[in-house]
Order: sequence, then structure tokens, then C-alpha cells
Amino acid sequence: MSTTDGGELRVGLVGYAFMGAAHSQAWRTVNRAFDLPVQVRMTAICGRDPANVRAAADRLGWQSAMTDWRELVARDDIDVIDVCTPGDSHAEITLAALAAGKHVLCEKPLANTVEEASAMATAAAVARGSGVRSLCGFNYRRVPAVALMQQLIAAGRLGAIRHVRAAYLQDWIVDPEFPLVWRLQKDRAGSGALGDIGAHIVDLTQYVTGQRITGVSALTETFVRERPLPSVSSGLSAGADGRGLGRVTVDDAALFTARLDGGAVATYEATRFATGRKNALRVEVNGALGSLAFDLERLNELEFYDATRPGPEQGFTRILVTEPEHPYLAAWWPPGHIIGYEHSFTHQMRDFVQAIADGTDPAPSFEDALQVQLVLDAVLRSAGNDSAWTGVDPVLTTA
Ligand SMILES: NC(=O)c1ccc[n+]([C@@H]2O[C@H](COP(=O)([O-])OP(=O)(O)OC[C@H]3O[C@@H](n4cnc5c(N)ncnc54)[C@H](O)[C@@H]3O)[C@@H](O)[C@H]2O)c1
Repeated sequence: MSTTDGGELRVGLVGYAFMGAAHSQAWRTVNRAFDLPVQVRMTAICGRDPANVRAAADRLGWQSAMTDWRELVARDDIDVIDVCTPGDSHAEITLAALAAGKHVLCEKPLANTVEEASAMATAAAVARGSGVRSLCGFNYRRVPAVALMQQLIAAGRLGAIRHVRAAYLQDWIVDPEFPLVWRLQKDRAGSGALGDIGAHIVDLTQYVTGQRITGVSALTETFVRERPLPSVSSGLSAGADGRGLGRVTVDDAALFTARLDGGAVATYEATRFATGRKNALRVEVNGALGSLAFDLERLNELEFYDATRPGPEQGFTRILVTEPEHPYLAAWWPPGHIIGYEHSFTHQMRDFVQAIADGTDPAPSFEDALQVQLVLDAVLRSAGNDSAWTGVDPVLTTA
């Protein structure tokens, strides 16, 4: 394990906006909620603007602030690099960090292209040989109700899986005057709703079912093709700068059908144009013996239909996922005292830190995230080819 002799894990985080704040909250909390063999030190945070990153360090609880991620990666007193920047810098920062022997947590989607994701997965596989761990930030796996869904399916409670139905709906760019932030630019984000939120439901459904997507038929749409240039290109909010319009180069919505390797069929919908839907992630799985349904807006609950129950007792049951026996919940409050969005990140850090301490590989690995990237790539190729059926290429890493 690459930690200091005192059992510390010294973290350096790049990017201090939305995910930077969410991850900071999790790093601050993880040793207080969970009994872990090492103590996390929030050693340094990195951003490009000196005043802003200094203010972020103070606000979020970091010991030092830096403006060059290369210097951060080169520091001897850093064990972990946490990448919370837009996708166009994931590969460069991650590859440098792995080469420097740092454990890496990289936000999703892993990269902007299959080529970058493939290079990252290969580098992670090589680094694993030296005890270096890597994790991609598909945090919704760590919502207790989602983890319970995975456990119930793995235990065979649904029998053979027939259907997967997944949607991730937002509405923050419905207004055509909303500016052209980085998430709307292909060279910065890789894709639009597809990579930003579609990637989450691809990972989540493959995780809970234990099945992988083998092929897709897709369509994408860009409803607003030009937008005002932004004054600041931050993630989900920004002002226009009055310099005119720029071209939107990503999808506003992506829809696809899919086949999974265990025999299930699936539908996926990812959009930022579902007016009134702020962050609506919903997944339903139907099997021969029952069904499970999850809704992020009610994240402490899981709906379970158990078709093996006697006829008069059948019906969807609402499980309140707050019992100490439920995944991660023993660390929190008495039953019925619900948790929130930010806990998924604390759980992610818990699993990452524990894996580093144990010398095991956390999931989702970069190979897992590369496979998601291959699905995204197949979706874009299908959509660009009149929705033709398109196979998902196999994951190939050379290490
Ligand atoms: N897991 C999730 O649920 C989730 C949610 C939102 C975003 N994300 C992912 O997290 C990543 C960041 O998204 P965000 O919403 O935090 O974006 P954001 O725009 O809110 O923040 C990006 C940060 O990166 C900084 N940055 C950009 N380029 C940099 C560079 N070269 N060096 C140093 N800092 C740099 C920016 O200054 C900013 O602080 C993206 O990959 C996104 O897809 C994941």
C-alpha cells in the first residue's frame, strides 16, 4: 500500500467546482463515518485560478492550494490523485498520476474517447502490478438501495432477467438562451447527455444485473444547435458574455435499445430536455420471479415485487433501505433516519480507501469504465448510421 508510515493516505484533488466540492465533502467525512485502517489527509487541492483555488481550499478543508496539476502529481507527499475536471483532461492527468505511482480516482465518464479510456485502462492494469489502485467515479453504485438491488438480483430473487428499463432525465438546458458551457462542447465533454448522464445508467444497470450490453440501436438529437457563448464555462450554470453564438457539438438527448449478454433486453433514455425533471434517474428490472425499481428522487427506497409470494399477498413492496443490515447503513443513523446524495460519494471513498489498505482492486475498475465507454461509442456510431444495430466492441487491454 502506498501510504505514509503513520497509516495516512494523502489526497490531492484536481478541480474545485461541483464534483470537487462533492468529493471534498466525502473525503472530510469518510473517517468520521467509517472505521478505516488509514486516515485520509486532505493534503492539496488544485485549480487554475490562484485566488479561487485558495478560497476553495479554505472552504472545503484542504491543507494547501496549487494551480498546476503536474506539480501536484509530482509531489512526494501525495498518495492519491482525485480527478474532478471535465473529460478533456481526465486522460492526461490520470496517466501522469499512474506513472508517478499514485492511486487514482477519476470521475466518469472515464474519458472523452475510447482511445483515451483504453490507454487509461492499460496504464491502470500495469500500475496494478505495483500495488497502485484505480477507480472510476460511478457513485450511484454506492447508493444503498442500488447496492441492495444488486444483492437481490445476484441472490437470484428475480430469476432470469428479461427487461431493463432505464432513464436519466434532466432539464437544465431547456432554455435556448442557456450558454454554451463545456458540457455542450464535444472537444471538452466527449458527448452530451449520453456521456454525462447516460453513462451512469449504463454502468448502474450493468452493475445491478451482472450483465453487459452487447449491442445497441440508437438515436440522438440536438434540439438547440447554437447557444450564447458563456462568460464562465462552469458545469451546470453560467452567464452569457454577449459575444454572440457558438455551435452545440453534442447530443441533447440519446435514446437506445440494447441486448445484454445474459439474455435481457433493455431501453435507455438520457436527456437534458425533460422539462420539469431535475435529476430523475429511474431504473426498473423485470425478471421471471419478480421486479425491482429504483428512483433517485426517493433514494432511500427500493420497490420489490416478489412473484413467489402467495397470490393474495403479491404487490410491489416499498423497502425503506435504512436498516443496519443494508449496504453501508450501519455507519449512519438509526433505521428510518434517511440519507442523501452526498453519502454515495462518502461510500465511494470508503470502498476506495479500504481497497487501497487491503491491497485489493476496487470496482468499477478502469476496465469496467472502458467497457462503458465502448457502449457510448457504439451508441454514437449507431445514431450516426440511421440507428443500425451496432455491436459493442470487446474490452481489450494489453497489460
Ligand atoms: N459522479 C457524478 O455524479 C458526477 C456529477 C457531475 C459531474 N461528474 C463528472 O465530474 C467531472 C467534473 O464535472 P463538474 O460538474 O465538477 O464540472 P465543473 O465545471 O463544475 O468543475 C470542473 C472543475 O475543473 C477545473 N478544471 C478544468 N480544467 C482544469 C485543468 N486543466 N486543471 C485544473 N483544473 C481544471 C475547473 O476550474 C473546475 O473547478 C466531469 O468528468 C463530470 O462528468 C460526475
